[in-house]
Amino acid sequence: MRPYALAFGAGNIPTPDRIFTAEELLKYDGRDPDTPVYIGFNGFVYDVSAGRQFYGPGGGYAFFAGKDATRAYITGNFAEDLVPNVDGLRENQLKELKTWQDFYDSHADYFRVGNMDYKILESDTKPESEEAAADNAEGEPEMSTKETKPKSEL
Ligand code: HEM
Repeated sequence: MRPYALAFGAGNIPTPDRIFTAEELLKYDGRDPDTPVYIGFNGFVYDVSAGRQFYGPGGGYAFFAGKDATRAYITGNFAEDLVPNVDGLRENQLKELKTWQDFYDSHADYFRVGNMDYKILESDTKPESEEAAADNAEGEPEMSTKETKPKSEL
């Protein structure tokens, strides 16, 4: 069982091997001025220290720091959706997420520093997450045929 759905794949951006747990990522929430600010997005971890004014304490987007809040980038629910789980989002919403990933990947002063641990779990079983997202958009009969669905999944 996978803990989270990933929206899409890595692209051709090299990503350092470092693996972060959610707990570890929290250390980079910007509260310590001597520690870089990291965010998780779609299972990748980015150094966004150059945007400390947005992501650091008092910044308009401080809630994104130190966690993977991919879902909230779509829903705008910065109270309840600061989680990486993108289950149930529509194809056009996943495309919008891709635009955010492109934003972080192409930003001159932000860079990838590693991967979230659940991303590795996912890629162990499903290396082609783009295809998984595309399949899902086509009607996902898979879910309705399941006998039980863990409550934690949505
Ligand atoms: C789902 C809704 C939204 C999300 C996920 C979002 C996300 C973000 C993120 C991540 C940044 C930082 C970009 C960086 O690293 O340079 C940013 C910046 C910014 N956003 Fe949003 N945003 C949303 C809605 C809005 C809305 C509705 C407004 C205006 C009414 C807005 C105004 C701004 C402004 C002005 C900045 C530039 C930073 C600043 O000067 O404080 N955003 N946004």
